[in-house]
Amino acid sequence: MLILGIETSCDETSAAIVEDGVKVLSNIVASQQKLHTRFGGVVPEIACRAHTDKIITVIDNAVMEANVEINDINAISVANTPGLIGALLIGLTTAKTLSWILKIPLITANHLHAHIYASKIEHEDINYPAVSMVVSGGHTTLFLTHSETKHTPIGGTIDDAAGEAFDKVGKILGLSYPAGPEIDNISKKGNERAISFPRSYLGKDSLDFSFSGVKTAVLYRCLGQDSRIAKERPILKDHEIADLAASFQEAVVDVLVDKTIYATTKFSVKSIIMGGGVASNSRLRQKLADAAKQRDISLYYPSKILCIDNAAMIAGLAYHKYQKEEFSRLEVEAIP
Ligand code: KG4
Ligand code: ZN
Repeated sequence: MLILGIETSCDETSAAIVEDGVKVLSNIVASQQKLHTRFGGVVPEIACRAHTDKIITVIDNAVMEANVEINDINAISVANTPGLIGALLIGLTTAKTLSWILKIPLITANHLHAHIYASKIEHEDINYPAVSMVVSGGHTTLFLTHSETKHTPIGGTIDDAAGEAFDKVGKILGLSYPAGPEIDNISKKGNERAISFPRSYLGKDSLDFSFSGVKTAVLYRCLGQDSRIAKERPILKDHEIADLAASFQEAVVDVLVDKTIYATTKFSVKSIIMGGGVASNSRLRQKLADAAKQRDISLYYPSKILCIDNAAMIAGLAYHKYQKEEFSRLEVEAIP
């Protein structure tokens, strides 16, 4: 079964053709990063214009690269929540139109559930139930995952998402957007114990996250307590930036790892699935792998191309929804 996936929830325009939920025949990702860099974050209006410009070409390329005909496709899938409303609507409207013209089912997918599904594309043997952690620029959410399509939220951020904290701290350190990958790299040259940044646990039993405190602590450390009146960005030496980055990263990673492990104990599960852009972080991968191994827990995360926003994860998840005949009507809405 061939499913065309479409993903436009934030700043990546993506289309993919996936066979039987796991065989990725094509996965085209047109990143808008360059358009947003000078603004230090995603500008919704620019994102929407870029999606509109690119979407048809990206779909054409996905069909061509997969070496299939558009009429061979059995269903159209699209992320309709969560995300930037205007951006979601471009993907959803395109998917509805294709479904209507080609007279094939429309399947809508939750973008976060698709990030969890991304691991399944490369690890068919995942044992459920699992604790799933989605860590991206817009979300930091823990789920109890019962199957490919069934997820119960058990915790989430009360302020910044983990990726957002990386990006904002990067801005303070003078790095360009998105700063996550650069902080990851720079940290390898720094000392993660150089500065003891706060770890916010929000109470003993809490599975929620808060990253605004550590972000502010980095700001104060760099600009002084009253950062609003600091006239200039301090000139930091390379080794100071490396120590700040490594210490900040360590604080975020510690909380993510501790809460995920705590959730496995609380719900007595032996599998962890990690997805989203921040799941590419090398320190997070290493520390979570070590913690899971010590407790005999299996850890699954996808390769980097499937961590970022991509349509293969949407089309893969949609295969399982197709089996359950979870189709959407053309009236289905986008939910930010
Ligand atoms: O999942 P994603 O591509 O888009 C959203 O749905 O948000 O995630 C993008 C986020 C950005 O905040 C970026 O800085 C972060 O993922 N990121 C990383 C790394 N690679 C990407 N954060 C930390 N370490 C990385 N290696
Ligand atoms: Zn995402």
